[in-house]
Amino acid sequence: MQEPDLSIEISSLKMESPLMLASGILGTSIELLRRVFEDGAGAVVTKSIGYEQRMGYDNPTIVEVYGGYLNAIGLSNPGIKEFYKELSRSKIDDLPLVVSLFGAESSEFSEMISILNELEVKAYELNISCPHVKGFGVEVCQDAKLVEDIIEAVKKETQKPVFVKLSPNLTDIVNAAKLAEDVGADAITVTNTFKAMSIDIETCRPILANKIGGLSGPVIKPIAVRCVYEIYQNVDIPIIGCGGVVDWQDAIEFFLVGATAIQIGTGIAYKGLSVFEKIKQGIKDYLTLKGKSSLRDIVGLAHGF
Ligand SMILES: Cc1cc2nc3c(=O)[nH]c(=O)nc-3n(C[C@H](O)[C@H](O)[C@H](O)COP(=O)(O)O)c2cc1C
Repeated sequence: MQEPDLSIEISSLKMESPLMLASGILGTSIELLRRVFEDGAGAVVTKSIGYEQRMGYDNPTIVEVYGGYLNAIGLSNPGIKEFYKELSRSKIDDLPLVVSLFGAESSEFSEMISILNELEVKAYELNISCPHVKGFGVEVCQDAKLVEDIIEAVKKETQKPVFVKLSPNLTDIVNAAKLAEDVGADAITVTNTFKAMSIDIETCRPILANKIGGLSGPVIKPIAVRCVYEIYQNVDIPIIGCGGVVDWQDAIEFFLVGATAIQIGTGIAYKGLSVFEKIKQGIKDYLTLKGKSSLRDIVGLAHGF
């Protein structure tokens, strides 16, 4: 029997594997991102880039908690102009590179895209969902008019696929997904981290310097799976599932509720970069066992009940 086909397409982005590196996990170095691609990712997403350079928060910025990690990095990044210089020096034409962008207004997003667009970036992911930086995350995601303006401005500026990354901290994530689809998003990424905190009971202080951070890892997976399930019932564009994928069984759950692709972030902290090949093999074995020739055959199957 032939190996099951794991290739997928999201708009014009063609991927040999449905597993993507999630934003923010391995920074913006093209060398490192290429290594992840060579280790089995179908596409790689950069850490989110903003218009201006940001230093981020003081340490501690990340702490391990039961079932995951809590982080408040503070969107540290070199700024769009420095990032453009790095990209122009790098060979990226053969790399399925998705650039993640954050901003507070539509003009920032469209200006950043106008700077990058001549380069071989394959798609953009709009991070409008960071839970711990005021003005750049949930506030954006919650403001329907602003979301509409941002997506419209970005779509005017580029023909490349645009993914919109939503916040699980919204009361109605389904409405946000519908809105993104209506104004032209090519895919929805769900989800970013969950607003959370952790306290050191000896010193009686919040552990993170920023006090509040975003929760990721296995502990958030059931909530992320529910978000994908509900969005799939209400939108037609592809969904990229993200949240707590550590092994192939987690990935399969996301496909069954309707994800076309999945992103892996914290899973790398648990399993290293071999996580991509291991999950890929697990998916192939599962499809073979179920007599399916393609990953596409199982997307959304959990909705038949
Ligand atoms: C240390 C760290 C940094 C992150 N930075 C970003 C970022 O810059 N932009 C973004 O959109 N998401 C960022 N995220 C969120 C992840 O991309 C992902 O949405 C989230 O961690 C859930 O997936 P996971 O459980 O597989 O990690 C970050 C997550 C972590 C743990």
